[in-house]
Amino acid sequence: MISIKINNVEFFVKKNISVLEACRYVGIFIPRFCYHEKLSIAGNCRMCLVDNGIKLVSSCTAVVEDTAQVFTDSPMVKKARENVIESLLLNHPLDCPICDQAGECDLQDQTKIFGGDYSRFFMSKRGVEDKECGPLIKTIMTRCIHCTRCVRFGTEVAGVDYFGTLNRGGSTEIGNYIPKLFDSEVSGNVIDLCPVGALTSKPYAFKARPWELRITESIDLSDSLGSNTYLNFKETEVVRILPKNNVNLNENWISDKARFSYDALKTQRIQQPLIKKGANLSKTNWLEAFNSLNKTINEEKTIFIFDEDLDLTSMNILKKIQRKNPKNVNLACISTSNEYKNYYDNFLNNKLIEINKNIINCFVISSNVKLESAILNTRLKSKFINETFNLVSLGLNVKTNIPTNIINLNLNSILNVFEGKSIKLSKLFVKEKNPLIIFGTSFKQRFKNIEILKSSIKKIMPTTIFLTLEERSNTKGRSLTGNLNSLNQNLLNNSKNAVFVNVENSTKTYSMVNNFKGKIFWINTHYSDVLNKVTDGYILPALSYYEDENLFLNLEEKAQKTLKVIYH
Ligand code: SF4
Ligand code: SF4
Ligand code: FES
Repeated sequence: MISIKINNVEFFVKKNISVLEACRYVGIFIPRFCYHEKLSIAGNCRMCLVDNGIKLVSSCTAVVEDTAQVFTDSPMVKKARENVIESLLLNHPLDCPICDQAGECDLQDQTKIFGGDYSRFFMSKRGVEDKECGPLIKTIMTRCIHCTRCVRFGTEVAGVDYFGTLNRGGSTEIGNYIPKLFDSEVSGNVIDLCPVGALTSKPYAFKARPWELRITESIDLSDSLGSNTYLNFKETEVVRILPKNNVNLNENWISDKARFSYDALKTQRIQQPLIKKGANLSKTNWLEAFNSLNKTINEEKTIFIFDEDLDLTSMNILKKIQRKNPKNVNLACISTSNEYKNYYDNFLNNKLIEINKNIINCFVISSNVKLESAILNTRLKSKFINETFNLVSLGLNVKTNIPTNIINLNLNSILNVFEGKSIKLSKLFVKEKNPLIIFGTSFKQRFKNIEILKSSIKKIMPTTIFLTLEERSNTKGRSLTGNLNSLNQNLLNNSKNAVFVNVENSTKTYSMVNNFKGKIFWINTHYSDVLNKVTDGYILPALSYYEDENLFLNLEEKAQKTLKVIYH
């Protein structure tokens, strides 16, 4: 620790941090536009100027020095901030009433707090042409203040050099030489990063103002990471999803799937219990539906089919139904992953925080992490940019945004590498302090004894870090509740009735329903074309993840909760 005087008060802060970070740790706010804790330092907006007793310095680039002193509220600093704001506003349009960022705009807020009350600029403002980034990001580039956060995000996190700074001086603009789509699984994060209304969300355009929104914490169920999110509601409608910062999980980012898939929850919802006989669909009530289900379970063989996105409570309820009537009821998961026989064997697994350790080689087995877990890939990308970090893909020729050594091996050769039998590759693995091994979902499907493999690798290299990507948001929940049966044709053939609990509409489900001769209970949030194939059965509505409080286990086996925010 070193001592630093800020505004004549002595503080002890960590070494090698910037003055801005030191001020942040001791609770002194320094205005900034270009600084972001997860991106490299650019130092180009000059909003963070502080007085070091001699001159003004930008606090995000100045490193703290022992016994140094800085002033964050001297008249010189105040005047400098006023001037910076004035120059940023030279070409900024007077757009606030029609700007989607208004109410949560850094420029608007900081102009109000630190800006002057007059402008000395009476010439025409320049205009900048908008850029086409695709269906998710709306651009109004005249509002851009050239902080370059979006440029650095593209290079350092998304791994796509999409935005760049064009031209010089008064003609500077942000854009790309060749117009194309922002082709990244995490592109939506630039919307949050942009401190002004230059980059905003297209689906959210003109939907709501920030002060009309209610905010609730939730989690992303589109992959097994369970990224933390904030759901923003206007009345009873989710209008947008934003990332919640969790340093051990998703940091400041969420994937585009997590950000934009809320749209799907608004349409095609099953609203009330329905009964289907032949082609006739008519209304019924819960009592009749449950009586029929009860009778079915008590009298005939019934199979409950679910997938690994089902929440923990529902999985437990299914388990109880089966325990109560073991003769007639079977449970089967439609997902194909081979789950562990014993949940508590999983102690070797998956703590994302371990990625922060000093890792030189990361071995990815049968996975394209960029597609399977876009947010985990951003962590790997940051490691690649900031540290010595090599990525080796074993068994899959992947197209990713991190330079990767691809070694095309079959399953046996991969196992040989980790058992020390492959002369060249085993050396690479063994000589390293903390090798990281990421198992993809397809590897898990092909190799049943992954736990045995992990413990034997641990014996050779005790410091090995394992991450096993899971297929769905609650795959771990399935193994905790012991619902290990996977669906097979025999189970289906032996059943007179089938209950599909929140099963996703896929070609597999379609052909299953099409070929099933008995009664079907379809419990789901949405209608789907599968229902055309039901000739005898009930269609029952289910609640989505923000209409009910549910628990999910992510790939770290961490229990996370969704909250009930809409009441029916
Ligand atoms: Fe107003 Fe901010 Fe939009 Fe500029 S970016 S028009 S300051 S709300
Ligand atoms: Fe900064 Fe937004 Fe301009 Fe990008 S578009 S440089 S994030 S102001
Ligand atoms: Fe320091 Fe922009 S935040 S120069």
